[in-house]
Amino acid sequence: MRVLVLNGPNLARLGTREPDVYGSTSFADLVAACAKYGAELGLEVEVRQTDQEAELVGWLHEAADNATPVVLNPAAFTHYSYAVRDACAQVGAPLIEVHLTNPARRETFRHTSVVAGVATGTVAGFGLDSYRLALSAVAALTTG
Ligand code: DQA
Repeated sequence: MRVLVLNGPNLARLGTREPDVYGSTSFADLVAACAKYGAELGLEVEVRQTDQEAELVGWLHEAADNATPVVLNPAAFTHYSYAVRDACAQVGAPLIEVHLTNPARRETFRHTSVVAGVATGTVAGFGLDSYRLALSAVAALTTG
């Protein structure tokens, strides 16, 4: 089973970005960890990152057209992008929203997710483990 792990803006800067908030794990570490988790779960994982809303929307259309499950960290788009939400709503396969941090514990503007209402479920607050848990959910949902 192929799974797209899609990441929104600023996530390629993990490791140097606000280390007090996001830790020292780099985006390369995230990619390697997702490949490892995928191999353990029997999933073929492809990790992508973009800073552009249109590119992320295009990738979600691709997932919708190919019935591909998605693990999505929409990053800041989480909180305001109706375009990303509407694209997520078209994905018929499981779509798990993930966050490294727990947005509910942070600034008020992060308490709203416009994506959550069209996601299969959300995992937040566990660092890289959020991705492992989300991939486990995809595996559980797609392998009877
Ligand atoms: C984030 C949380 C968002 O609020 C923030 O804009 C991000 C990262 C997370 O993974 O914790 O860029 O999605």
